[in-house]
Amino acid sequence: MINFVSKVIVFTLALTALEFVELVCGFRHWKWSSTSGKLNPSENIDHLVTNLPGQPQVEFRHYAGYVTVDQTHGRALFYWFYEATSRPDEKPLVLWLNGGPGCSSVGYGATQEIGPFIVDTDGHGLKYNPSSWNTEANMLFLESPIGVGFSYSNTSTDYDNLGDDFTANDAYTFLQKWFLKFPSYRNRSFYIAGESYAGKYVPELAELVHDKNKDPSLHIDIKGILLGNPETSDAEDWKGLVDYAWSHAVISDETHKIIKENCDFNSNNTWDNDQCNQAVDEVLKQYKEIDIYSLYTSVCIADSASSEDSSFQVMMKRSSTMMPRIMGGYYDPCLDEYAKAFYNRLDVQKALHVNDGLHLRNWSICNFKIFREWSDSKPSVLPIYKKLIAAGLRIWVYSGDTDGRVPVLSTRYSLSSLGLPITKAWRPWYHQKQVSGWFQEYEGLTFATFRGAGHAVPCFKPNNSLAFFTSFLSGESPPSTR
Ligand SMILES: *[C@@H]1O[C@H](CO)[C@@H](O)[C@H](O)[C@H]1NC(C)=O
Ligand SMILES: *[C@@H]1O[C@H](CO)[C@@H](O)[C@H](O)[C@H]1NC(C)=O
Ligand SMILES: *[C@@H]1O[C@H](CO)[C@@H](O)[C@H](O)[C@H]1NC(C)=O
Ligand SMILES: *[C@@H]1O[C@H](CO)[C@@H](O)[C@H](O)[C@H]1NC(C)=O
Ligand SMILES: *[C@@H]1O[C@H](CO)[C@@H](O)[C@H](O)[C@H]1NC(C)=O
Repeated sequence: MINFVSKVIVFTLALTALEFVELVCGFRHWKWSSTSGKLNPSENIDHLVTNLPGQPQVEFRHYAGYVTVDQTHGRALFYWFYEATSRPDEKPLVLWLNGGPGCSSVGYGATQEIGPFIVDTDGHGLKYNPSSWNTEANMLFLESPIGVGFSYSNTSTDYDNLGDDFTANDAYTFLQKWFLKFPSYRNRSFYIAGESYAGKYVPELAELVHDKNKDPSLHIDIKGILLGNPETSDAEDWKGLVDYAWSHAVISDETHKIIKENCDFNSNNTWDNDQCNQAVDEVLKQYKEIDIYSLYTSVCIADSASSEDSSFQVMMKRSSTMMPRIMGGYYDPCLDEYAKAFYNRLDVQKALHVNDGLHLRNWSICNFKIFREWSDSKPSVLPIYKKLIAAGLRIWVYSGDTDGRVPVLSTRYSLSSLGLPITKAWRPWYHQKQVSGWFQEYEGLTFATFRGAGHAVPCFKPNNSLAFFTSFLSGESPPSTR
């Protein structure tokens, strides 16, 4: 740990010198002109996105590019940052992470869920998203860890070390170096949000930020975390997955009974029991017929993911609860394909400062090799929840209730095992006069459901999600009257 801190400091110094050069050079190429006419040249000008193909006209600035997290190994993480649509100086900073492990926050979060530009046609362009979360906050999307999306390492052995700790450490270094590039955000109220496997990433990174904050020179003003359909605790997640499949008529009473009698999800040897193994295989087999991430919508009938698909059952078992999201989306079940086409365009990559416009990088929405080889995964982040609650961080957890992958039952089992005192009993919350879901408040934690939303909630309920996000930022309960 001491070694890590001193490394950060060395990089910090190195980067300051480097960026002075970039500032001087970058300024000459400054092309952006704002309607507000306020010029704010700083050392991040080289990352300003000015000519993204197919981008709708907007009034806010956005930036994209690499931040080097390890100079000797040549490791760099790719980010895309959207300033708030209005008064960015007064709004908080929110880091968004998608899961997998191995899936892209740009491909999912930014361009299918909560960013201002949604991919809506096969590689041709982007559509403005009026429910984008950058109407309420400055939104930072990070492709993490290396090997995800455009993020990479020049040292191939780095890929052998991927896991939860590695990811948190690199994301933390990224943040510190990003603040050097965007100093006006250094002391801003800061939140970390994410969904799915980021249910592990988000608390892990928040804990690291909290621990490092003991050094005032590294202080980041972290205020809270927001988690959507989060993987939380393997035993509870599995129990919820099978119970949900049964209660939603995906599997038979007989299969569920075998699981009840033979699966001990708290054991380290769950899969040594053949009967348990076969019955859980049956659950996954049924889920392969539909979209496990959204039980009541169509699947994308495309071809490209099918080869990866065939190994899912084995993958899911061996690596415990993990499985990346494959297809989905409310607008169109084929959004993943559109994202892939768009981000593999040379002109798009050039505009996002991924390359010089000559050498195409191979972008995919999920890296299945990362997923398969993930070595270090915390079986539960509930102990971290306890620590962060004690530290006074705001923790909100939400769950789309038509997701079969990290179902609402999994989350309820996990939260219930925390045994937190209830401060506001279960009740509906409303959006535009309709019940948007239910919520319950505990001492230190708020839990809410989204009625009729799948795994990636904002895809299904963009307006409700934005309203909920606004409540989260203000720390006020979601509306409990019509
Ligand atoms: C990785 O190697 C390439 C080719 O040598 C180089 O251009 C790039 O700057 C290196 N990346 C990092 C983060 O050092
Ligand atoms: C952030 O706050 C610290 C301590 O309050 C202060 O020393 C520093 O100058 C501030 N940095 C920026 C960029 O405002
Ligand atoms: C299960 O694995 C965990 C972590 O590897 C270990 O701490 C624990 O002792 C193991 N439990 C049993 C019953 O083997
Ligand atoms: C791009 O990556 C995918 C999977 O990560 C791989 O199957 C494909 O062959 C790669 N394409 C190129 C041109 O390298
Ligand atoms: C969602 O919000 C947008 C923008 O405010 C609005 O145009 C749209 O009608 C809303 N959709 C629904 C279903 O209420």
